[in-house]
Amino acid sequence: MKSVVVVGAQWGDEGKGKVVDYLSGSFDYIARVAGGHNAGHTVIIDKDRYVLQLIPCGILRPKQHAVIGTGTVVDPAALVAEIATLSKAGIDVKGRLHVSNRAHLIFPYHRELDKAAEGARGANKIGTTSRGIGPAYEDKMARRGLRMCDLLDPELFRKKAAHVVAEKNRLARGAYGADIDFSGEVEETLRLGEKIRGYICDTAELLNRALDEGKSVLFEGAQGTMLDIDHGTYPYVTSSSATSGGASTGVGVPPTKIKNVLGISKAYTTRVGGGPFPTEMPDLEAKEVRERGKEFGAVTGRPRRCGWLDLQVLRYAKMINGIDSLVVTKLDVFDTQREIQVCVGYKYKGTPLKEMPALAEEYEHVTPEYKTLPGWNETTYGLKEGSKLPKAAIDYLRFVSDFLQVEIGMISTGPERDATIVPAGKIHTMLTYEQARNKVIEEVGKRKGPRATAAVSVWDALGLVLAQEVKTDREYPPFNRSTRDGYAVRSSEAVPDAQLKCVGEIKAGDTVRDVLTSGTCLQIMTGAAVPEGADAVVMIEYTSRENDVVRFERAAHQGQNIVPRGSEAAAAQAMLKPGMRLGYAELALAAQVGAVQLQCAQRPRVAILSTGDEVVLIDETPGPFQIRNSNSVSLAAQVRIAGGEPVILGNAPDRIEDLGAKIESGLKEDALVLSGGVSMGKYDLVENVLKAMGAEFFFDAVAIRPGKPAVFGVCQGKPVFGLPGNPVSTMVTFELFVAPAIDLLSGAVPRPLPLVEARLAEALKEKSGLAHFLPARVEWRGTVPEVKALKWQGSGDIAALAKANCFLVVPADRENIEVGERVAILLRKDVV
Ligand code: GDP
Ligand code: IMO
Ligand code: MG
Repeated sequence: MKSVVVVGAQWGDEGKGKVVDYLSGSFDYIARVAGGHNAGHTVIIDKDRYVLQLIPCGILRPKQHAVIGTGTVVDPAALVAEIATLSKAGIDVKGRLHVSNRAHLIFPYHRELDKAAEGARGANKIGTTSRGIGPAYEDKMARRGLRMCDLLDPELFRKKAAHVVAEKNRLARGAYGADIDFSGEVEETLRLGEKIRGYICDTAELLNRALDEGKSVLFEGAQGTMLDIDHGTYPYVTSSSATSGGASTGVGVPPTKIKNVLGISKAYTTRVGGGPFPTEMPDLEAKEVRERGKEFGAVTGRPRRCGWLDLQVLRYAKMINGIDSLVVTKLDVFDTQREIQVCVGYKYKGTPLKEMPALAEEYEHVTPEYKTLPGWNETTYGLKEGSKLPKAAIDYLRFVSDFLQVEIGMISTGPERDATIVPAGKIHTMLTYEQARNKVIEEVGKRKGPRATAAVSVWDALGLVLAQEVKTDREYPPFNRSTRDGYAVRSSEAVPDAQLKCVGEIKAGDTVRDVLTSGTCLQIMTGAAVPEGADAVVMIEYTSRENDVVRFERAAHQGQNIVPRGSEAAAAQAMLKPGMRLGYAELALAAQVGAVQLQCAQRPRVAILSTGDEVVLIDETPGPFQIRNSNSVSLAAQVRIAGGEPVILGNAPDRIEDLGAKIESGLKEDALVLSGGVSMGKYDLVENVLKAMGAEFFFDAVAIRPGKPAVFGVCQGKPVFGLPGNPVSTMVTFELFVAPAIDLLSGAVPRPLPLVEARLAEALKEKSGLAHFLPARVEWRGTVPEVKALKWQGSGDIAALAKANCFLVVPADRENIEVGERVAILLRKDVV
């Protein structure tokens, strides 16, 4: 059951037609869900150009079924004309076109009313397509509409139509002082109805059945989010639901059956008709984009208004539609653009807006805040491979993807069907840090093998992983401990714990052998750990043993100091299980039960390689090698703290030979960490070398602002990490991804993220967007510790980093955090 909604993320004309045509080959049904022939979806196949208005684009494929759903409004004349046009082009719709019996009809008078209403609006006109869409939906909502099913019974249709005509005339007389001329409309509609009759059916039954049988459905949205009747720039909207929710109501397929939502956006923005448009370009620039992008209405031929990409609109569209993958179309239109502006936020009367204004009057006066990005000045027209995109184009796409925290699932580089890039994780596989961490755990977990073990003294075992259970004193002498020894005994009768008696009587001078052979005592031991098979431990204080002779400083009385199972020491033994990482507490426990040496898994060897050698100015501080060297040093320390053995490979400049040799030696170790990143585009050489060595990548960016290129893949069975160069991000991404991998490689269960709750001591103003880790200091005052973000200069501010003892997690959806609010912090392991 595959069901995907294609939705316009802007004001329509995003290129939905082209995208639906591209995708429709792998779907069984393609369904229009709302709107009418106000839509114009252009599809170009080889030399042929089709503009579909009502019938979904899937009809252009030979086997696909096309459905016009219940949420649409259908002008029978337009539908008959479209069927005829397709037929002329050699496309037969018979048996493949299905029109909902519940879809409402558009009559010629709806068109007249549309025009009249627009005329009456004067300067505030909406700029509708004059197809009668609004008035037809008005009748539907007023419950006086006529539907496809009415057409099937001409007699009933005439009767109902007479009622509607009478009611409409009463209204028209009131509003316009004149009757509407309906003469001929009813009979003409019935005549057209005869041509459509064969296509009319219950499309909700059809599509739900298809999905239940495992067939796939693509929902072809029309218009766009900002034209949606509920969520758009009301009243400058169309009259139907143009958002993903409309797909469910529009065809009667429940939301639980819809799997994915694909949002379509141009690399810029256009709008036809009136209404607010914050990022609209000045005339001259708009003219250029309009000409390059051929921005003239597919239905009305009207020049489209052109503007910069508006990430506020896309953020909103992502939220309203639940977009899980974004398609960027018309990238090629920017091929000659020197600089590109992207709107990253709005201000209204000087105050940043967090939400989309509801009032068109307010929206009209917002000031967009722009970020300027460089253009690429290279042709991308017709490109099919992501790897051939110019770096600046990738950076542009990345910026969009990072800002929105959404993957870019497809890029369109021309109107033709094959001018399409499907990155398949190449351009961007950006995960949230939780997802990325889970991916590392899943993939490394699949590949980890058994680890070599070695006996290590308790003193040296800190940070290592226990390979064998710690047994109590008999396995781990010495016997000459002097306190809290005891004897494990089994009760002679099966009695409840509460009545347990000391049945083995122990006297001063008894030897261990004596006790063991007394018949009821199972095992002698120290540390009061209860072994399997014993019911209790007799605690005898101030005892010592030498040469098997037990000495008592204080005599034990029968029944005294009986410690049932579950005593502290027993818990200690139960806790010291293979796979645990040995921290201070675990080592203390091991020592308490008498362990001197422990069998530990050997530390995984983690190769650290700094990559890249971009040119920087001499006086720039800190220089790239300073960053790289300091990164390697701090990474080595982190590797050790995390329980790994760092193997420093030094720096490898951007030359294939150097890189190849270094990476090869790194892959001999248990894991490879690249501190210069290996993300697509920027560090493509590293990526290419790894790919040539058979690497598979699972993600190449994480949603940590500003969208860090943190890479994780597997090459020759070894995990490979590319960490961002920025020291803070290096530390954070190490903790998030490399540390759990080291755990897994040592045979341990990955530690949970050391996220702790703290209270903010100083208000924080941060731009919303992505989760952000800021260097911070936490102090333990009271029950909830208090945290304060540190001022820092960005990338190279290692001094600030040195002061930090934690990282403050700024949530993705927050701008301001107030004093006293609870926030999450990631503790720095080496400090805390
Ligand atoms: P829709 O209403 O969302 O289907 O979009 P329209 O068909 O109304 O408008 C999109 C226009 O852009 C059409 O003329 C398409 O042929 C064209 N188009 C789509 N994708 C691209 C692209 O990547 N590059 C260029 N240059 N044109 C495109
Ligand atoms: P596709 O599916 C762009 C606009 C009209 C007008 C407003 C109301 O091709 O993306 P209406 O006739 O629907 O009452 O007009 O909506 N509009 C579109 N703009 N693309 C469309 O469809 C549109 N459908 C309607 O220009 O501003
Ligand atoms: Mg269009």
